[in-house]
Amino acid sequence: MPPTRPAAPEGFRTALGAFAATLGSAVGLGNIWKFPYLAGIHGGAAFVLVYLAAVALVGIPVLAAELAVGRRLRRNAVAAYAAAVPGYRAWGAIGLAGVAAAFLVMGFYTDVAGWVFAYVFKTLGAAARGTSLPPGTFAALAGGTWEPVTWQAGVLVLTGGILAAGVAKGIERVARVLLPVLFILLLVCDLRSLTLPGAGAGVAFLFKPDPARLTPHVLLGALGLAFFKLSLGMGAMTTYGAYLPDSARIVPTALRVALADTAVSLLAGLALFPAVFALQGTPDGGPGLLFETVPRIFARMPLGGWFTALFFVLAAVATIGAMVSLMEVPVAWLSARGRPGRGASAALVAGLMLLLGVPATLSRAAGLDAFRILGRTCFDLYDAASSQVLLPVGGLAIAILAGWALPRAGFLAELAKGERPGAWTGPALRGLLRWLAPGLILLAGFGLL
Ligand code: PHE
Repeated sequence: MPPTRPAAPEGFRTALGAFAATLGSAVGLGNIWKFPYLAGIHGGAAFVLVYLAAVALVGIPVLAAELAVGRRLRRNAVAAYAAAVPGYRAWGAIGLAGVAAAFLVMGFYTDVAGWVFAYVFKTLGAAARGTSLPPGTFAALAGGTWEPVTWQAGVLVLTGGILAAGVAKGIERVARVLLPVLFILLLVCDLRSLTLPGAGAGVAFLFKPDPARLTPHVLLGALGLAFFKLSLGMGAMTTYGAYLPDSARIVPTALRVALADTAVSLLAGLALFPAVFALQGTPDGGPGLLFETVPRIFARMPLGGWFTALFFVLAAVATIGAMVSLMEVPVAWLSARGRPGRGASAALVAGLMLLLGVPATLSRAAGLDAFRILGRTCFDLYDAASSQVLLPVGGLAIAILAGWALPRAGFLAELAKGERPGAWTGPALRGLLRWLAPGLILLAGFGLL
């Protein structure tokens, strides 16, 4: 096999480190910001149900396939897909589309991450003063110009700096400690939210499906979110697969990552919706849902101001873990030959991402919000083009590659590492990748036509 094995970051040397790293990429704004806001505008439980099915039937197989391709070829995503089937370099297009997707996702992700970082400082300040955030804080921040752009630039400098310094492994160590704390804090938030009078309506909203809401848009929206949530269809997990030790069993790793990630999303939903209903808000609040609701939930608890600040600190950490993996896709590709080096590659990529991201951030500013491309703001365009087009199409191509084009024995051997001989999980997974996963992705796509 290939001679160029990338220096495995320390955290990935053990199966547990690999799990933490992969989970660190999966858990991010998708769980606490995007999942609740999409479930809110798509009518709740029907969307949640389709989302869960998409994770189980499509997300887990594609995640395992990406990890397997990455580990088998042990190189950056573009090079890995180009070399996956000898003689068919065209598969490398998956990696190139993944690089494009990384730029598009970061274009809007860094805007929202900027809000999270701004909220860390705003909520800490409010807690220290013993006050709460004035009403309209979120609208003023998101609709501003210099303020959100400065935060966005700061987020990119931080993420680029982490990649350039090669301390991404440090992030995993931090995430390994802080992700469990985020989990516990979400549970506290859930308890407070669920015990508010009138909370039951929020639980019903999240778990009692209304079949009338099952439209083709909901199907594709939920599938796109499943890809986005598990960092799939764009090479991020392939890149991490290249750092995976042979001792890590791929199918159980994929299962555990999907389970833990889904649990965080559901806990976030259970924190927000009962409170939204109890406090007489509407669930379809859109992108501001998280930022407006969390301070209101904690406001009803002793030391609430400090809990709010802690929540945003942990959210910021989770966000960095996801952004590191997004930026790693183009950086690993650019720096694969040693020139430009990682530092220059990270600086270049961060600069380009900022150029692309500023129009998304400004798309909420007064006077600029009327600017539309294909009827959408820049922010929405990046989001839709990545989550509803590039990631599902990338996922479809990866499923077809793994199910049909990769030599069967090699692919199964990768899945069998660490398993007892004769394990059925590998062949079963390959079956899902051949038929069910591509079928469901095509079905969701055609529903729109
Ligand atoms: N999975 C991350 C989240 O939920 C986002 C992400 C998408 C990361 C694609 C990497 C690749 O926040």
